[in-house]
Amino acid sequence: MKKTVLITGGSSGIGLALVHRFAKAGYNIVLSALPGTEFDEVVEQILRAYPGIELLSHPLDLSKTEAPAQLWTLIQDNQWSIDVLVNNAGFGTWGEVQRIDAETDLEMINLNIKAVYSLTRLALDHMQERKSGHIIFIASIAAFQPNPYMAAYGATKAFVRSFGLALYHELKEKKSPVSVTTICPPAIPTAFQKVAGMEQSALFSGWLSSDVETVANAIWKGYQKKSRQVIPTWYLPLVAPFTRLLPESLSIWMAKRTLRKNLPD
Ligand SMILES: NC(=O)c1ccc[n+]([C@@H]2O[C@H](COP(=O)([O-])OP(=O)(O)OC[C@H]3O[C@@H](n4cnc5c(N)ncnc54)[C@H](OP(=O)(O)O)[C@@H]3O)[C@@H](O)[C@H]2O)c1
Repeated sequence: MKKTVLITGGSSGIGLALVHRFAKAGYNIVLSALPGTEFDEVVEQILRAYPGIELLSHPLDLSKTEAPAQLWTLIQDNQWSIDVLVNNAGFGTWGEVQRIDAETDLEMINLNIKAVYSLTRLALDHMQERKSGHIIFIASIAAFQPNPYMAAYGATKAFVRSFGLALYHELKEKKSPVSVTTICPPAIPTAFQKVAGMEQSALFSGWLSSDVETVANAIWKGYQKKSRQVIPTWYLPLVAPFTRLLPESLSIWMAKRTLRKNLPD
């Protein structure tokens, strides 16, 4: 029997690369992202490229409180089961806290935290009942320290990483059939950069950056191996043992230095 994956934010960037990975492997797909022509085009493109799979598409704004439940109701109404949930939809904001539009930050907090929590709760009950399932969280390397000039975004990703790792350990302790993988990608040039107004930021082209395909490969491998955490960079696994020994003020200083570069006045 075919497996099914629910991917939020599957219309571009990491989410779209994962849609291709799972579709190639023969998974049926539940695809959700913001409504618009880009979403419709992606749905058409996937249906054309993978005629052997079924696709349930639902364009909706997951930052709205009721949206995760609406998405879940659609899945249930169609009598689909979910084997894998990829909590991927998210965006970032860049700048001094007081200069960022508060409504935009609140929308980001709703999407990056509340929607992730709500969908995870819905999927967990469903997967426990079916005695099988895997949940993937897309956090960020921004989750490892406070990030001046990306303060709220970094904090949302610290929530995602902490929640994902804690859930992994809870489920492991009770020998749950549901497993969890938390991903911490580095900066990669996707629509994320434009949405955050970071076209001028040095973050996405420097030696610390990566690309969508490398990250999608690492996520796929992490899913196959049921890894606890995946950090898809070559440098972090090398330097991580040393950075843990650094005072937090130094890692904050390093983040601040990078994030302040080319910040518009
Ligand atoms: N790019 C990076 O440097 C980077 C690094 C670390 C972690 N991440 C994380 O990786 C994830 C994917 O980012 P990406 O780089 O692939 O960015 P992306 O190309 O901008 O993709 C974001 C996806 O989320 C969807 N989305 C945005 N707002 C939404 C909303 N309110 N409701 C439903 N869907 C919404 C977008 O839909 P539309 O296409 O319709 O807008 C798109 O499909 C995010 O959680 C991001 O925080 C990114």
